[in-house]
Amino acid sequence: MSNPISRNFQNIFLTVVICGNVCLPALAFSQNNIGIEFKDKDQNVKVLTLSDITTEVTAVSLKTFEIHEKKDQIYKAYPARALFDKTFGKGWLKAEEIVFISMDGYQASIPVTKFLSHDAYFAFAHHDNSPFTMTNILQNNEVVQLGPLYLIWDNMKSKVLLEDGASDMPYQVKSIELTTFATRFPNLSPPAKASAEVRRGFLHFRKYCMACHMINGEGGGKAPELNYPTSVVEYIKPEYLTRWIENPSSIRHNSLMPGLAQEILNRAKVTKEIIAYLKAMSTTKRSPQKQDIR
Ligand code: HEC
Repeated sequence: MSNPISRNFQNIFLTVVICGNVCLPALAFSQNNIGIEFKDKDQNVKVLTLSDITTEVTAVSLKTFEIHEKKDQIYKAYPARALFDKTFGKGWLKAEEIVFISMDGYQASIPVTKFLSHDAYFAFAHHDNSPFTMTNILQNNEVVQLGPLYLIWDNMKSKVLLEDGASDMPYQVKSIELTTFATRFPNLSPPAKASAEVRRGFLHFRKYCMACHMINGEGGGKAPELNYPTSVVEYIKPEYLTRWIENPSSIRHNSLMPGLAQEILNRAKVTKEIIAYLKAMSTTKRSPQKQDIR
């Protein structure tokens, strides 16, 4: 879970006065100075600030349907493919998965194929230069910081993207990593002899849950671990687990968890399959590696 105090600090332009022989004028620290890491299988490729990116990639204005706010928004943004070309070279096209790590612990893991079939952009400002924040309806109307980079999609004409909900739209992105899912998240995979239902549940969990939650120490650090050492299926009654997934605020007032998006086709079946996966993982506990917990 992100800490509201540190989040507020990101909004403030810290003013530091450095005094040596001469007192320098105040040094402004802002989103523009945050180093965004680009990695290829854990190796650092580059660290770029927004000011660096501005000199490398041409920004555009993009109108999108803002899923977190349920209204249209216009952002200033860099085309994702152009940014990947500049940072990784054409090699990124051969990668399998891209993991985006956010300052609040969110960890979106998105297949490269999605970037080839849809146009993604990294927003860095609102079109009208208003503060780069938003009121996130999906997160109990919290006001959240969006910078340094916010991954958005040209979704106005795409039913598929609108149905995907907000899980592939990480904000506060500070690290972008090329990888393969199996090597990056070995502890999340279901047991080898798992049923087809459990495997489908695993794919849904990958898509809708792991950006916030960990299983066996792997996944996002924005919400509680769900499997290790005690699984949620061991202490939450089945009907309540369904409600946690579909309507979290019916369990806990002011819950920061968004319910499974209403737009998802066969939503009840998806929930059932996610629970089948969680049950299978409750008998597949793997001790988290230290480096998994970031
Ligand atoms: C955007 C982040 C986010 C996403 C996505 C998310 N959750 Fe959560 N979840 C939370 C947070 C935060 C909590 C902590 C309780 C709260 O704030 O209400 C939580 C709590 C829970 C709990 C209760 C855990 C406990 O021990 O009390 C369960 C179970 C759960 N989530 C399951 C899921 C499943 C399954 C999915 C995918 C369908 C999912 N969550 C998607 C943020 C998220």
